[in-house]
Amino acid sequence: MLTIALPTGRVFADAAGIIEAAGLPCRGLSSPGRKLVIEDGDFRYILAKPSDVPLYVSYGTADLAFAGGDVLLESAMPLVELFDTGKGRCRVVVAGPRSLAPRFLGHASELMWLKVATKYPRIADGHFSARGAQVDIIHLHGSIELAPKLGLSDCILDIVQTGGTLKANSLEVLEHVCDISLRLVASRKSTALRWDEVQSVAKKIEEAAEETRP
Ligand code: PRP
Repeated sequence: MLTIALPTGRVFADAAGIIEAAGLPCRGLSSPGRKLVIEDGDFRYILAKPSDVPLYVSYGTADLAFAGGDVLLESAMPLVELFDTGKGRCRVVVAGPRSLAPRFLGHASELMWLKVATKYPRIADGHFSARGAQVDIIHLHGSIELAPKLGLSDCILDIVQTGGTLKANSLEVLEHVCDISLRLVASRKSTALRWDEVQSVAKKIEEAAEETRP
């Protein structure tokens, strides 16, 4: 039995689509309802909160998993990144009101003690530290755009896909941090002990991802 973790939410359909295109047994995966574990043949699929996926992999509970680049950077868990599926492309950016833009164009000292709301405190800390600024990071778990709107923060560091949420909340991209996409990762334990099995499934998944690349 090989266990594959899939993140619920915005990239679930992409991940499930690749599994199906790879021809792996996956009955019930496209419409799981409230099920969190789905088994078909020699495969078990775990449907997990995106930010928890790296943990399932690093503990070896899942042999393979689909995980967003944002989640992988933030978790910094020990696992093996096999390849980029090319799906779920989005950007991590710093965004805020237009009035803040001049401070981002000036010297790094202009950003000192800026209040930054984010779901990604590690990425935010790394980004602003590398830029030479120490900022005040406010860790939230969702609806990040609320923070600058209500005066809780000056700006946000978040993922942007269509840009619709920023626009609806009168925020603009102030700085690009990195591009991210959906990756296939493997547990170190499984790559060490079950490499043949892991590799053969990963190869099918990679070929399917290539074929369905946008
Ligand atoms: C993400 C992100 C933004 C939004 C960006 O939130 O945190 O709020 O999507 O997408 P867009 O550029 O296509 O508008 P998500 O929908 O995952 O929900 P959350 O705010 O509860 O984390």
